[in-house]
Amino acid sequence: DLPKFVKIVEVGPRDGLQNEKEIVPTEIKIQLIDMLSKTGLPVIEATSFVSSKWVPQMADHTNVLQGIHRAPQVKYPVLTPNLRGFQTAVAAGATEVAVFGSASEMFTRANINCSIEESMQRFEEVVRAAQEAQIPVRGYVSCALGCPYEGDIEPSKVTKVAKRLYSLGCYEISLGDTTGVGTPGSMARLLESVMKEVPASALAVHCHDTYGQALANILIALQMGVSVVDSSVAGLGGCPYAKGASGNVSTEDVLYMLHGLGVETGVDLSKVVEAGNFICKVLDRETNSKVARAKCRF
Ligand code: HMG
Ligand code: MG
Repeated sequence: DLPKFVKIVEVGPRDGLQNEKEIVPTEIKIQLIDMLSKTGLPVIEATSFVSSKWVPQMADHTNVLQGIHRAPQVKYPVLTPNLRGFQTAVAAGATEVAVFGSASEMFTRANINCSIEESMQRFEEVVRAAQEAQIPVRGYVSCALGCPYEGDIEPSKVTKVAKRLYSLGCYEISLGDTTGVGTPGSMARLLESVMKEVPASALAVHCHDTYGQALANILIALQMGVSVVDSSVAGLGGCPYAKGASGNVSTEDVLYMLHGLGVETGVDLSKVVEAGNFICKVLDRETNSKVARAKCRF
């Protein structure tokens, strides 16, 4: 049984752009988010409050967050790796944040320069401060289906980190296939394990599409009761600390599949295609969305 409604979390302005070598002008980022805000998307991850030495593309986080025209029904979470990021985000007007951990020690070190244990202590500080400010916190678990440094990752390891973030107080746990190596089989095994500790209603899947498995992996997740899907307009994206991994599954393709299945999203596919065309033109790049590329009508 598939869910009747799926919440799409658009991560394009953050995951989609963070790995771009050339700095995208702040005005363009704002325009992209404003276009996405008019599509019916319920959540648009806007930027990251990380170190600009680590991810120069996100250095304009405050100006982006303050420049966008917020639609009242849309949430605009931002990434916050530590208390410092959280405080800067709140000062910039953030009303929802996300912490990002990983099931891999080596990826955690490469991405946020600490151990898994240390990362949990940092996230605990963020969650505590967020709870005081009544700001909801989302939690990511990267390398949920494999790690660029460690290779295979046991579902039990992912489950442990997901459980930990959930018990800290993250309202939703997004399982990240950072490198896109997962298949429907490994996704099913992962969810079977994680769902013993975190309810399906609190889980999201975040699939990069390096191996072309993302839609299949998402479909399996939906069949197992997940109803939140992360995706990126035009399939942009990648993590600077997961070299060779391609973008997220494209929002356009996810919408096409969901609507074809009769699953509601509240999102206007053609408006997302327009936003995708806009950002691809600026980046001088062909879209990664098959649906947006399709010449026949949909
Ligand atoms: P560090 O160097 O270990 O931290 O970085 P530090 O505390 O030693 O501080 C070093 C410098 O950074 C200092 O500045 C701090 O003030 C500053 P300096 O004295 O050298 O001038 N600093 C900060 N600046 C701005 N914002 C902050 C902040 N904190 C410290 N919040 C840190 C640790 C976490 C900051 C760093 O490793 C970092 O920024 N990492 C971010 C990496 C990142 O953004 N990765 C991409 C997102 S994750 C992803 O894409 C995966 C996901 O999509 C899911 C999936 O696909 O699996 C979510
Ligand atoms: Mg990602």
